[in-house]
Amino acid sequence: MHAPDRQKLLSALRTRFREAWGDPAPRCFFAPGRVNLVGAHLDYNGGDVLPMAVDRGVYAAARLRSDGRIRLCSLDQKLVVEVDGAEVGQRTRPEWGWAGYPLGVWHTYGKHTGRHAGVDFVFGGDLPIGAGLSSSAAIEVATAVALDTLHGTGLDRPQLALLAHRAENGFVGLRCGIMDQFASALGRPGQVLWLHCSGPRWEHVPFDGKACEVLVMDTRKPRLLAKTGFNERVAQCAKAHEVLRAQVRDLPHLADYAMHDLELARDAMDDVLYRRARHVIGEMARLDRGVVALRSGDFRALGQVLNESHRSTAVDYEVSCDELDVITAAARACDGVFGARLTGAGFGGCAIALVAPGRATEVAQQVGIAYRARFGTEANFDLLRIGNGPGEVG
Ligand code: GLA
Repeated sequence: MHAPDRQKLLSALRTRFREAWGDPAPRCFFAPGRVNLVGAHLDYNGGDVLPMAVDRGVYAAARLRSDGRIRLCSLDQKLVVEVDGAEVGQRTRPEWGWAGYPLGVWHTYGKHTGRHAGVDFVFGGDLPIGAGLSSSAAIEVATAVALDTLHGTGLDRPQLALLAHRAENGFVGLRCGIMDQFASALGRPGQVLWLHCSGPRWEHVPFDGKACEVLVMDTRKPRLLAKTGFNERVAQCAKAHEVLRAQVRDLPHLADYAMHDLELARDAMDDVLYRRARHVIGEMARLDRGVVALRSGDFRALGQVLNESHRSTAVDYEVSCDELDVITAAARACDGVFGARLTGAGFGGCAIALVAPGRATEVAQQVGIAYRARFGTEANFDLLRIGNGPGEVG
């Protein structure tokens, strides 16, 4: 559990930039990843979520070019992409790999502002990639902030979040909600974002880091089915919503219904749709309890909400897996743990545990032993703090 060295990372980024793209020196930008405390899979259902930006994220070194070429490389990935901006269409291409995210933002930003200058980029970061901590939203928001700053277009943070979200939905093709991009763009130290996704509207709620710490437990199980499984859940929820509208009453979002509405429509849906909707409607009620607990600093009650949320995502929403179930159960069995659940989309990746201050190292050790005994592999543990929002760094 060692915090990475920011200055080292920034200097590696600059060195790589000079090697790859030469002088003059770039400007450097940062956008955070996030963990979501409660509100699993509610954003694309018009519900509320409770994410916090973390003190890890993605760094982008960037410099505008006078032609329309875009060149992208990364400290962590082998693939280097060079493309003429005129060739960047509505959709990413398989050969662009990870670079599809920043290219999508470049494309969307160009459409929005009419600025299509080329850019040289180098990316790096201190978040585990593709593990449910929103590395993709962080790279999108870092790109959006870089373009906005370099061009001096003065977009505000919600606009940057919406641009990033549009890039992921349209260009990359993941039908995600707005949570990750808003959590990254609107992050504030010491505060959790209470985001009402249907507006969107939001407010910040203080999180007392002296009373509770957030331990991230990375199963290191790759989220192979994440994209197809995710889009399938989005489609199932849309179907359940259709049935509720036709059979019970017409409300704008699935998250707006009450449990008794769902019972009235039960015979008109199959068991899978029923359970998906039960998760969404139940999670909205849990979220309300979570906000009350957070506001009153009652981390035991908040932890209980996390435990219930995990059970529902596992049983009704079916986005958990053995690794996430085992790691969260092992955490709950430790002294000083208030609660634990998977974070992000699920299907592998990370879980979080809310832990009493001073207990994290021991909890990580005990959970690590249980995890190794069961799967024969090592999990990773990190104590994350609530971080800054995005901006220029260094
Ligand atoms: C992913 C998506 C988000 C959200 C979560 C699940 O992180 O990108 O929009 O739906 O999964 O809560």
